[in-house]
Amino acid sequence: MIKLDTSLKVYIETYGCQMNVSDSEVVASILKDAGYVTVHSYGQADLILINTCAIRDNAEQKIRNRLDVFRQEKKKRPQLLIGIIGCMAERLKEKLLEEVKSLDLVAGPDAYRDLPNLLRTAGSGQQAMNVLLSMEETYADISPVRLDKNKVSSFVSIMRGCNNMCAYCIVPYTRGGERSRDAGTILREVQELSDMGYKEVTLLGQNVDSYDWNGVSFAQLLSRVAEINPLLRVRFSTSHPKDMSEEVLHAMARYDNICKSIHLPVQSGSSAVLQRMKREYTREWYLDKIASIRRILPEATLSTDLIAGFCGETEEEHQETLSLMKEVRYDLAFMFKYSERPKTYASRHYKDDIPEEVKGRRLQEIIDLQSIISAEVKKQDLGKTVEVLAEGFSKRSREELFGRTSQNRVVVFPREQYHAGDYVRVLVTGSTPATLLGKVVR
Ligand code: SAH
Ligand code: SF4
Ligand code: F3S
Repeated sequence: MIKLDTSLKVYIETYGCQMNVSDSEVVASILKDAGYVTVHSYGQADLILINTCAIRDNAEQKIRNRLDVFRQEKKKRPQLLIGIIGCMAERLKEKLLEEVKSLDLVAGPDAYRDLPNLLRTAGSGQQAMNVLLSMEETYADISPVRLDKNKVSSFVSIMRGCNNMCAYCIVPYTRGGERSRDAGTILREVQELSDMGYKEVTLLGQNVDSYDWNGVSFAQLLSRVAEINPLLRVRFSTSHPKDMSEEVLHAMARYDNICKSIHLPVQSGSSAVLQRMKREYTREWYLDKIASIRRILPEATLSTDLIAGFCGETEEEHQETLSLMKEVRYDLAFMFKYSERPKTYASRHYKDDIPEEVKGRRLQEIIDLQSIISAEVKKQDLGKTVEVLAEGFSKRSREELFGRTSQNRVVVFPREQYHAGDYVRVLVTGSTPATLLGKVVR
């Protein structure tokens, strides 16, 4: 029997952090129940959703440019519906609908269950919006539709929102207050991923260390996730230095499958800047935390986030960031120019007074230093045999695979008979600043 395909097609384009990647999978699941299938190009879609980020002004600019492309498509196909969801939707609310008349739908991060309703309104020709934030919504019962193609690694949200009020940050305004997801549903989701053949999960939250569900702490949750399958790697992000506990470090030490890499955003190396940022720790306190990590997990690698040119940052304070980088020696850093966000504490109380060219120069100094350090620390692995989880073909060639070590280092090696999802033992024979090169050993 020939079955006619009458499903509507949705194309979801995702910007921003891993949390948004995970949310897009929740959205795909809610829309699937409403009769939509997900497609991977917008040309054939009945509905385009842009899952947006508001973290810096340039993130929003990029999305606006993309929206222009989709509006052109809608001129050709007036039946096409276009929606903006996620953090920029939450930040701008009805302003988006007023500004972009051809936009059909705006939905914030806690309103995704309402999408089928909103789409009915939009389908009848009216603009639709829901930007209510919630203190309960965790989408705990929703089984995400996996949108990634490699089926090796997946994200699992364990909490939503953020209760910190870092002075520069828009996230508490776009994602609301912090709430933890039911631990039982997290364990069930990870079990399902393991049964489907996934080899790695990353537990996600803005501040995973403050996870608390009916007394279950993050360290306990992490241990229970690790026990599901010893061949399933477990990662997590993001840890806030003020909340990361030794219990978590001990859990990491206890289970081989909890990956030995920690993303611990420092933002600045200056205690005075950290105080203005309301990060609630000092340089010394942060370095103490790094010392505990080194003691409990000597093999762990570290990564971080850094902001250049925050309000009032002096040249000396900038130098303190460089000196902290030299002291910690991160494997990897995400480095940004400070971008003032409306409503935040910094925008209300401080002046964004560092000239653009100074911000740019300081950021460049941070980037240059980090690429030297990244290249140096990778050399530690030369001559070692590492276990790599293969993720896919390398950028350069289909004869090569790339994958990651437990320390989150990327390794490229000849494909031979291996496939994405295999654990491969690789002897490291060379390195570039971003990658290790090696050959398979048996
Ligand atoms: N919850 C995580 C990540 C939040 S957003 C954490 O607390 O670390 C990711 C990164 O974006 C932040 O760590 C910070 O380095 C950067 N960022 C956030 N707001 C910014 C702003 N207004 N300007 C520049 N960078 C910003
Ligand atoms: Fe933003 Fe700070 Fe919350 Fe991270 S911890 S999301 S930087 S407010
Ligand atoms: Fe961006 Fe929202 Fe994530 S602002 S970084 S998508 S939480």
